[in-house]
Amino acid sequence: MIFTVAIDGPAAAGKGTIGRAVAAHFGFAHLDTGLLYRAVGALVLKGAEPVAAARDLTPDALEQPGLRSPEVAQAASEVAVIPEVRAALLDFQRGFARREGGAVLDGRDIGTVICPAAEVKLFVTASAEARAGRRLAELLESGHATDMAAVLADVRARDARDESRAAAPLRPAEDAHVIDTSDLTVEAAIAAAVARVAAAG
Ligand code: C5P
Repeated sequence: MIFTVAIDGPAAAGKGTIGRAVAAHFGFAHLDTGLLYRAVGALVLKGAEPVAAARDLTPDALEQPGLRSPEVAQAASEVAVIPEVRAALLDFQRGFARREGGAVLDGRDIGTVICPAAEVKLFVTASAEARAGRRLAELLESGHATDMAAVLADVRARDARDESRAAAPLRPAEDAHVIDTSDLTVEAAIAAAVARVAAAG
């Protein structure tokens, strides 16, 4: 069975949590595509050239330590504006999406560019304040010293760059179902996503 669930949305809206839960519920494979851009960003911070880093990306690079740091997130959103970087990561994502057994991909351009024919498209969003509050809690939990003002500024800077870039800007596909998680519990957001996927299957 080939079945693709495309989940897009801004940073810290809950895409990853929802993507993992939907994949576990239906027994599908899950790919966090942000990790690909983070891996390239981390290599660039170590001196690599972005397009070469994207072309030569290995599974090992996805296991590098520190991929969740704010510095790597910014570097990821900077390399993500380069069309050749996006092109180098395209085939891997499309292959993953059409693997046997079903796949969930989360990112920024899955429903619009990577998998325009996905069986289900979700756009998971939330207010910048709600997203920054969640990201702050995660960062403090994992030992990063930061505060709300810094995290909110970081979220807004990445939103602006992701939405305004020429190559595959962040926006909902026309046929995407929008899930606003600002006032939803994690369980309610997952239930809404699972119901959408079940309705399409
Ligand atoms: O989702 P995550 O925060 O890990 O993504 C890091 C950055 O990678 C995003 O800010 C975005 O610029 C970029 N990205 C992208 N397209 C995707 C996934 C992530 O441009 N499909």
